Amino acid sequence: MTVAPTLPGAVTVRAPAKVNLELRVGPRRPDGYHDLATVFQAVSLHDEISVTRWDEWQVVPTGTYAALIPTDGDNLAVRAAKLVAEQWDVDEKLSIRIDKDIPVAGGMAGGSADAAAALLACDQLWGLGLMRDELAELAATLGSDVPFPLTGGNAMGSGRGDQLAPVLARGTFHWVFAISDVGLSTPAVYAECDRLRDLTGSATDMPEPQVSPELMGALRSGDPVALGAALHNDLEPAAFSLRPDLKELRDAGVEFGALGGIVSGSGPTVAFLTESHEASLDLSVSLAAADLCRDLRRAKGPVHGAHVVGAPRT
Ligand code: C5P
Repeated sequence: MTVAPTLPGAVTVRAPAKVNLELRVGPRRPDGYHDLATVFQAVSLHDEISVTRWDEWQVVPTGTYAALIPTDGDNLAVRAAKLVAEQWDVDEKLSIRIDKDIPVAGGMAGGSADAAAALLACDQLWGLGLMRDELAELAATLGSDVPFPLTGGNAMGSGRGDQLAPVLARGTFHWVFAISDVGLSTPAVYAECDRLRDLTGSATDMPEPQVSPELMGALRSGDPVALGAALHNDLEPAAFSLRPDLKELRDAGVEFGALGGIVSGSGPTVAFLTESHEASLDLSVSLAAADLCRDLRRAKGPVHGAHVVGAPRT
């Protein structure tokens, strides 16, 4: 692998992971997608993307999960950068360094964070001066979860999850994320959700998905106990059906004192809300001892969306 040197002029952007505090899934649409009503929270696990002019397209993976980063054209950060180059007629190629600290294929939108960061980095590098809504529009063409890491904070998502609106919230919340060995495919989890609903006939006459007043109230008041009780994910039964071990993990975390436990997005990461930083440490110790997951990460939320941090880490 060619390692890109840290050249002057490289632009580095930091983008956060997300957890869906609530994920309500409507019936399958004719285009294969599902209408969602969801509330995202950006959490303090970040990837950093550095873009440098180069004589060929290349991905340079670094960081905790470097080994799991695809380095070909399928990489969402590369697709994002090529999209900007195409749309604005920029005839340049880039070396894209991805410093990956967001768990891969875990339902925390790590690939989407990389794409969002690459959009912002290219905008800066090429001096395009794009507006936030132009970036959000490009982001939505790359994937349903790509607009949110640009925004960060707490936001409500509708449509495919790509139409964002701000959410009134106060306080900081403390999380423990239990990371699995093996990823779960997002389309497979949605397909399993459809299959389970067909079995029970629950897809017919399904009301439009809506976020609950309990969750919005918990965010407004900054009350972690109320938020823990309001966490909800319609994809959870599907994730548990494909991976029954995740239910065991979620139940264990709740038994060990989490205020709430939920599969993050389409999984397999399980997110546990705790009362405080200390409670997160205690929960991590208990979960580690139970040996039900590969890794545990602590984080707090909400945090800011994608932002330029300047020169690359060395
Ligand atoms: O938009 P994105 O490429 O991230 O979506 C990946 C897959 O997840 C889609 O192909 C679809 O199977 C599923 N999905 C869905 N409804 C959504 C978002 C994603 O069915 N709102």
